Amino acid sequence: MRFDQRHLLGIEPLRPDEITTLLDLSDKYVSLNRARDKRSSTLSGLTQINMFFENSTRTQASFELAGKRMGADVMNMSMQASSIKKGETLIDTAMTLNAMHPDLLVVRHPHSGAVDLLAQKVNCAVINAGDGRHEHPTQALLDALTIRRAKGRLHRLSIAICGDIAHSRVARSNIMLLGKMENRIRLVGPATLMPSGVAELGCEVYEDMNEGLKDVDVVMMLRLQKERMDGGFIPSEREYYHRYGLDAEKLARAKPDAIVMHPGPMNRGVEIDGTLADDINRSVIQEQVEMGVAVRMAVMDLLARNLRARPKEVMA
Ligand code: NCD
Repeated sequence: MRFDQRHLLGIEPLRPDEITTLLDLSDKYVSLNRARDKRSSTLSGLTQINMFFENSTRTQASFELAGKRMGADVMNMSMQASSIKKGETLIDTAMTLNAMHPDLLVVRHPHSGAVDLLAQKVNCAVINAGDGRHEHPTQALLDALTIRRAKGRLHRLSIAICGDIAHSRVARSNIMLLGKMENRIRLVGPATLMPSGVAELGCEVYEDMNEGLKDVDVVMMLRLQKERMDGGFIPSEREYYHRYGLDAEKLARAKPDAIVMHPGPMNRGVEIDGTLADDINRSVIQEQVEMGVAVRMAVMDLLARNLRARPKEVMA
């Protein structure tokens, strides 16, 4: 079992065997989380600080629960979007926190690259909980765990990632992870919601959803990220739903046992039909949330082992 990372800033630096190590350990935490007594002492004595400069429900809650179940001292800093004054402020905040000797810092920030920058300034392990449109590694890992448990494997699957790919860090991290594990990835959506340089991503691109979903094993829907749009990316939500909203009819193009995923939060009736999202025979959206806690426990466990193996750095 090898995991050589000091931080988890993205999927990009991970090797396939490190991803497998993480997912195998996550499976163990799924069992622990289903037990009556969920406590472990893996992180006891360590301090975890959650810094969310952007709103979050499930990601923040699951990092908090994960830390508490493993015995860390967990603190949530509430960072109001209005207090972000970029560059200096972020670094100043990091230095202030660093002086309090945290061991694990979980950071979400609206600017791509902000979490990497912060990681260069502190002595603790940093986990990226989503930075701008860049990466959201724990989301891709929890999606991978959900797929592996539902399909029995994480390679040679045909996976359609659908909708607002241009604005999505979830899509970027998933494309990297699923690509490293040798799956076939299709990107499905209107040309206006495809990222620039889409041709270099090594995926098949479809504008027609009925074609894009044909015979896939997994349908991953994305939220229409209206807060990141500043112009006319889509004609209207009604038209968007008609062409790209997942309903039973479009899903019938996929394999009969294809699973439906969504990272949340969902816009019901915009990118996905509400009844389908709740259909426990097709949708694994609740499993994704459950896997989220286990994956975050595994990530913090492995980073803490590496932290403990290093001689303690003395601050300058
Ligand atoms: C995603 C995010 O914040 O990137 N949500 C999440 O973490 N579950 C996706 C989104 O906001 O649409």
